[in-house]
This record gives sequence, structure tokens and C-alpha cells, in this order.
Amino acid sequence: MCGIVGYVGSKGADGRQHTALDVILEGLRRLEYRGYDSAGVAVIADGTVEYRKKAGKLSNLLEELEEHPLPESNIGIGHTRWATHGGPTDVNAHPHVVDGGKLAMIHNGIIENFSEIKRELQAQGETFVSETDTEVAAVLLARTYDAQDPEHKDLTVAMQDTSRRLEGAFTLLAVHADVPDRVVASRRNSPLVIGLGDGENFLGSDVSGFIDYTKRAVEMGQDQIVTITADDYAIVDFDGNPAEGKPFEIEWDAAAAEKDGYPSFMEKEIHDQPSAVGDTLLGRLDENGSLTLDEIKIDESVLRSIDKIVVIACGTAAYAGQVARYAIEHWCRIPTEVELAHEFRYRDPIVNEKTLVVAVSQSGETMDTLMAVRHAQEQGAKVVAICNTNGSTIPREADAVLYTHAGPEIAVASTKAFLAQITAAYLLGLYLAQLRGNKYKDEIATLLAELEAMPAKIQRVLDEVEPQVKALASSMEDAGSVLFLGRHVGFPVAMEGALKLKEIAYIHAEGFAAGELKHGPIALIDQGQPVIVIVPSPRGRDSLHAKVVSNIQEIRARGAETIVIAEEGDEAVREFANHVFYVPESPTLLQPLLATVPLQIFACELAGAKGYDVDQPRNLAKSVTVE
Ligand code: F6R
Repeated sequence: MCGIVGYVGSKGADGRQHTALDVILEGLRRLEYRGYDSAGVAVIADGTVEYRKKAGKLSNLLEELEEHPLPESNIGIGHTRWATHGGPTDVNAHPHVVDGGKLAMIHNGIIENFSEIKRELQAQGETFVSETDTEVAAVLLARTYDAQDPEHKDLTVAMQDTSRRLEGAFTLLAVHADVPDRVVASRRNSPLVIGLGDGENFLGSDVSGFIDYTKRAVEMGQDQIVTITADDYAIVDFDGNPAEGKPFEIEWDAAAAEKDGYPSFMEKEIHDQPSAVGDTLLGRLDENGSLTLDEIKIDESVLRSIDKIVVIACGTAAYAGQVARYAIEHWCRIPTEVELAHEFRYRDPIVNEKTLVVAVSQSGETMDTLMAVRHAQEQGAKVVAICNTNGSTIPREADAVLYTHAGPEIAVASTKAFLAQITAAYLLGLYLAQLRGNKYKDEIATLLAELEAMPAKIQRVLDEVEPQVKALASSMEDAGSVLFLGRHVGFPVAMEGALKLKEIAYIHAEGFAAGELKHGPIALIDQGQPVIVIVPSPRGRDSLHAKVVSNIQEIRARGAETIVIAEEGDEAVREFANHVFYVPESPTLLQPLLATVPLQIFACELAGAKGYDVDQPRNLAKSVTVE
């Protein structure tokens, strides 16, 4: 998830003179929430592409521009990066300028088949300076353009041909020194909006990229290409057929635009979850449906020989680890433990060369997790990090890393990173099962297909269940305590639901294993006590479902107000539930990707109803870099 701006023009509708650089830097400032590990700009001046790019925050690019200013120009592109392929370095920063400095490209997304195209281009003599998929697309576009009939050169047509070759999700913006009056952009499964000015036009990954200059915008469809000049724009599909955009007026102010119109980053990030999960799956399946985790650069013989997995993490990431344990143990038949990172090294854990340690961290900077990683490595264990922040310390020190592609998470309370961590853990589990031959190929393919269906199912929860959950949550402002119950993978989901409520709504909340109820916690149940219960699928082969339904009956009989998250079609729970929220069907092990979403919405809405700042809860920091 990166931020993208494109601009052609010179004079704004308000009569102000502004250069391309003014517009682009303002847009990048507003889009920095989408990625802040590097930034860059390219402009065309006097028929030459000029660019500056820098690792780190936008401020680093601004310093670079002070030291080495760019010439004045009326056309340019700008990028703020959240690294996916290739670490956050100056070289990997966008734009990628190729073809002897004539073509500059920026990109948001993941090009799944970039390795294959890169090999082809290398065989034709091309060399690459970065590790990015973007540079591959840039070189492919440049070659396609250069190969056109000199009489009929057309950057838009070259972009069509290039886009048809690419798989995955991408927004690509390109400028070429031969045609210094236009920016050409292509979009597949990745956002891009056109902004319409008076004698100037804009492109942005969302409207905040140009909201300071115009309120008139055009929405594009999938698999489309737009060419903007100062006075016009034209949209075509990947085959060159003309297409229509959907004009709209931007009603948000600039602050709302950064949050995509949502009142908080947390709510926006809850809504980012279909793409967080989808993007984490992208590029990890080959054409035969097998998992190819190229990033796991640990010798396969080592992975085959491990006899124990230990997942280490803190907070929400540790709950993702608990979900991972159920899945990995079931699929791989490898004993799997989960331990809070800060407890791990103080109990003299038994880990050795046959232990695979999986460190889960959104930020990659959590000191407790980092220390546990170092401790495990000292004992000879190999460490795989599951991390959302490319180039951060934990993945740098780990033996291998599986990045989640949730994009930057701004709200302190983790939401989309949690779902992406669970997704990555499933991929790791299935990969180990595939490698160690624990599962038949078709079983793995079925599970992968189920996983690929999850983004659409999460979207359904957002579309259909969110309004019901919000209505309930906003009526529960006075709740003094909320209990959460779950079994199996529903147990970590219950604990995550309780953590969300504690941290942003400051309400006492506890997550329990439903079976533990009668061993103590049931004493807490009193008239009107709200209890949220995660019910497993009734289609499961064991008796999990029946057990949880009995638990609901037990607490209902003692006066609890039961709020039930169940699978669509599960009529058995209705009788004992004061409120039921149905989520789509899924295999039991994958249910956390759906059942967590109503709990996040519940906490967010309840905290909002109490008037709290959900993005920056009291006493908490986004990344805990002290022990
Ligand atoms: C809760 C939350 C924290 C983090 C924990 C680990 O909403 O965000 O519990 O999950 O501090 O952080 P990372 O994943 O960055 O290591």
C-alpha cells in the first residue's frame, strides 16, 4: 500500500501558479499515511526526466530536494512507499527511472509474475539495479514502447500491452521524456482516482492526493488505463477500447480524505481488511496452485527436520500466534507452542537447532519480541518472522521473513495487521505441510482456495453485519464489563475481542476458553452481564459446536445477555441468544478471519460512543520499543 500522485498542468482553478512539485509534495504529505519508508518524485523539464528519491520519511526527500533542487516543471509523478518487494532503501525507492533516463515509473501493489518477467528480460540483456517488481514493469514498458513503429509511438498503447502481461494488483504511473505533456496510468485491483482541475489534471491513490486543488474527481473501473494531459483525460481498457469513468464531487475535507472518509484510522483499517488479507495471499501461489514462499530462505532439509515450532509475539500478534498454533499443529503434525515474547526467554525454554521459532510482529520493532528472537537464535533455533514492516529490525535479524501486506497501520489498536498475520501463518503452515508431505496436494489446494475466498467473505461481514453490530454497540455505552467466550480457534478470537475493548473503550473485558467457564469464571455471570460468544461452525466433524451451544445455555440461564457470533444458517443458537451476528461459512480453522471483524467493529463503535479517541488510546504507543 503506497501513496501515488500524478500531475499535469500549470495554473490552478483558483488562479494560483503552482509547479508540479508543489502539487506532488502536498499530495505526498497527505498520502504519507499510506507508506512512509521512502519517497520520491520525478518531473520532466526541458525534455529530460529529473528525479529525486530517498529512503525514510517524506522529510528526508524534502531535505534532499533542498540540497539538490529539481528544475521547475508542469508535469510529474510522486510516490510514498510501503515496501513489499525489496527493503526500504534509496535504490528500491520509487520512481524507477529506466531506458537511459527517459522513462520514470511509480507503482502501488504487487506484481505476482515479476520474477518470471525479470528472468525473460535478463535473458534479453536487461540489467536491474533494484530488488523491486516495479523496476521490472518499468523496463517492460520501456522496451514495449521502444519496440513500437517509430511513426506511431504511443505510451498509452505500450501501457496496455505491458498491463496485459502483468499479474497481481497494481497501479502504475509513468512519464516519458518523448511525451512530456502526459502521465499514463494503469490500474488493476489497486486504487487510482482522477482529479479534474481547470487547465490541470491529477491522479492520486485516493482523493487526498489532490484535495487541496480540486473537488472534482473521476472514479475508474478495473483493468483500465488513463492518460491525463493538462486539458483532458481519456480512459481505455487493457485492449484499448474506450471506457467511461464515473465523475463525482468530493465532499470530504482534507482530514477526512486521509481516512477515506471514515471517522478514524481504526475504522478505515477495519475496512482495509479484505485487501490486507488478499494482498498477503498475492504472489504466493504458483500457476499449479502450489505455495511458493521464496522468502523462506531456510534450507528445506532444515525445515523437514524441525521437531517443534515455538511462536513468540506480544498482544494482538500473540493471539494471531495462538490461531497459528491450531492450524500449524493440525496441518503439519508438528508440536507447536505459543509464548508471550517477554515470558519466553526468562523461563529457560528448550529450543535448539530442531526448533523453528516464528516471531510475529506488525511493527518489527517490539523489543520484547526482538529479545526473544535473539535468545532463540543463541540456542541454535532458526527464526521466521511474520512482519508487516519491511526492513524493520526483527525481519532483519530473523533467518527468513514472511511479510504481511496489510499496508501501514496507523491506529494504535491493531486490526488489519492481525488478520494479515493469521493469513501469513496459515500460508506458513500449509507450506510446511506441503514441504513435509503431511497433506495431499489436493487437500492443500482446497484450503488455499478457501483462503482465497476469504477477502470477499470479510467484505460481506463489513457490508452486512457492521450496521447491526454498530447499533448494538452504541446502545451499550454504560456496560461496565464484557466477557468473551470461545473454544478452539474461537478462544484467541475471544481474547482479541476483549483486548480491543479494553484498550480503546477502557471497559473491563476478559476472554475465556468456553470450557473453562465452569471452572471459575461462571461466577461472574449475573443478571444482564454481556457475554460475547464465538460459535464454531455446526458443520465441523467434532462436537465443538454442541459444546459451545451448551455453554450459551448455561450463561443465559444465569441471566447473561448473550451476544453470539455464529455461522450463517446456524439456527440452533438463535433460541439462546439475545443478539446473533451471522458470518459467512468457512472451515473452522479459518473462521477467525471472519469472527474477529464484528468484535473490532463493536469495540470501535463503543469507544466512539463514549467519546474516546480510538486511534490514540490513553497510555499506549503503536510500537513498544522498550522491554
Ligand atoms: C493491540 C496491539 C498490541 C500489539 C503488540 C505487538 O491492539 O496492537 O497488542 O499487537 O504490542 O506489536 P507488534 O505486532 O508491532 O510486535
